[in-house]
Amino acid sequence: MKQYNIVFQPSGLRGKVLDNITILDAARQLGVSLESVCGGKGNCGKCKVRIEEGNFAKYKINSSISAVTTREEVNYRFLSKQQMKQNYLLACQTKIHGDVVVFIPEESRKGQQVVRKEATTRKIKLNPVIKKYYVELTAATLHDALGDHERLLAQLEKQYKLTGLVMDYPVLIKLQGIVRQGGWKVTVSVWKGQEIVGVEPGQVKKGYGFAVDIGTTTVAGYLCDLTTGEVLATEAIMNPQVAYGEDVMSRIGYATKEKNGLKKLNDAIIDGLNEIAAGAAKKAGIKRSDIIDMAVVGNTCIHHLFLNLPPQYLGKSPFTPAIHHSVNVKARDLGLKVAAGAYVHVLPNEAGFVGADNVGVLIAEEPYNQDEMLLIIDIGTNGELILGNRKKLLSSSCATGPAFEGAEIRHGMRASAGAIEKLKIDPKTKEVQFKVIGNDKWNTEDKNIGARGICGSGIFDAAAQMFLAGIFDKSGRFDMKVKSPRLRMGEKEPEFVIAWAKETAINQDIAIVQKDIRAIQLAKGAMYSGARIMMNRLGIDKVDRVILAGAFGSFIDKTSAAVIGLFPDCDRKMVYAVGNAAGDGARMALLNIDKRDEADYWAQRVEYVELTLEPNFNSIFTKALSFPH
Ligand code: FES
Repeated sequence: MKQYNIVFQPSGLRGKVLDNITILDAARQLGVSLESVCGGKGNCGKCKVRIEEGNFAKYKINSSISAVTTREEVNYRFLSKQQMKQNYLLACQTKIHGDVVVFIPEESRKGQQVVRKEATTRKIKLNPVIKKYYVELTAATLHDALGDHERLLAQLEKQYKLTGLVMDYPVLIKLQGIVRQGGWKVTVSVWKGQEIVGVEPGQVKKGYGFAVDIGTTTVAGYLCDLTTGEVLATEAIMNPQVAYGEDVMSRIGYATKEKNGLKKLNDAIIDGLNEIAAGAAKKAGIKRSDIIDMAVVGNTCIHHLFLNLPPQYLGKSPFTPAIHHSVNVKARDLGLKVAAGAYVHVLPNEAGFVGADNVGVLIAEEPYNQDEMLLIIDIGTNGELILGNRKKLLSSSCATGPAFEGAEIRHGMRASAGAIEKLKIDPKTKEVQFKVIGNDKWNTEDKNIGARGICGSGIFDAAAQMFLAGIFDKSGRFDMKVKSPRLRMGEKEPEFVIAWAKETAINQDIAIVQKDIRAIQLAKGAMYSGARIMMNRLGIDKVDRVILAGAFGSFIDKTSAAVIGLFPDCDRKMVYAVGNAAGDGARMALLNIDKRDEADYWAQRVEYVELTLEPNFNSIFTKALSFPH
């Protein structure tokens, strides 16, 4: 098959690609950073690139727009007429049929996402799955011909009353050497009182475990001391699967339809976990192979992709997972390079897309031990809700869409340097003050603030502040009678300028457009109606406490969330942000075996509410679209 030269600017990364592949796939193959929030479906408009025309002697390329074919009708939805004239197009909708030079504008380059998943200071009761036993063996002689394995088991029974133990094969392979290295004194790591998963020479008191929260967008790993519960190091990265699609449905599509799709997605997350485990071990001054136990949470799709389980049945009604119950699997079978005998415990799934991450939140917040009526909202790429108390628990998930994460928003972006994360609008003058990630000053204090777009928390603020300043009405429609140079008719629809071009690094005004407000309405309407339907099921009109879980929940402004009507009214003092509760749940499962049982028990008992099957879903959802609701 024909091959062509492609060069990406400004990075200069280049290579040969096959005829008829998309520019987005070419970028992935060559490791070029290019946004692809929807995974290449033509739904997000974030993969804008420009075809450079002319003779590039340096690369021996004569580049022309005629070297590509593109889907104009999709480009038209996201590009202005001006951009189309300038050879801008969507990389995922454009196929290569000749040598070409492609320019990636600043706004389409992936920023390094700020990963906000620090471990919380939550107290965790210790009762780890791995217990260590120190034994002194009598040395073998010609008169005592017991095998080392039998010798060790006999001593463990005699000293600790441990019976019926089995030994993991890689441990057996190294056993004789270690026993002699330790002068017949060894420390044995026993998993669940059943299996010897590690033997070390001499007396070793410390043991290490790794708890992991695999989010759709970010992955966080907590290296813990199993004897004290202390978090020794935290490492976080963007989920490397993002390159294959930002939301779970696009990843299911990729895993199901692309050749080797599941393998690529699985390899991506396993490589990512090996990387963060190595990073955390280095920080803590231990070896990665000292990690003897792991606990993992993630939503149902992530769970399947991590465990190499084909996810196609999850992607269509009735959304059946391969397994609900928790899974214990050898880390080595997944390609994880921790201790050879280590197990990975993956928490159970609930139902639909409400997976092990939500179970993590459940065992961290323990609503089943409370009298108060709790509404727990986990805001991520998917919205997940838990409502209840010790009497009854409901859960549901709603498709908020990626609007809160910056996608489907004209100038939306991830939480990376230069993203507007906080803003205020003067209700009288309509003037805007904003802050960007990576800079402590407001735009009014720093003339070179260099905004690049708006991230999720900025979008919450923008919607709330524009509503309070009367820029749009309850229905979300822009009020063009408002007098402000910031409010104007854009090329296709009304828009309100948040940052003037001179305050940006992308040399164009950053604005919230009418369509953005519609996307926010759909997202917050989905969250609110989910909560309302669950409340109706329990016959209640009010909740006692609202808990915002998820790293994102810690960064949004509680008042903005209430103004746009993200959740039913509740005393503002009773709204709490608890940080990464799913990650806390993973740590609890790592450090306390009872929490694993608790997770399996409650995952089966939470009643899952399929919102779209509710007969009055449409009327509740339609009402919830208004501001505040
Ligand atoms: Fe191209 Fe979303 S539109 S990746």
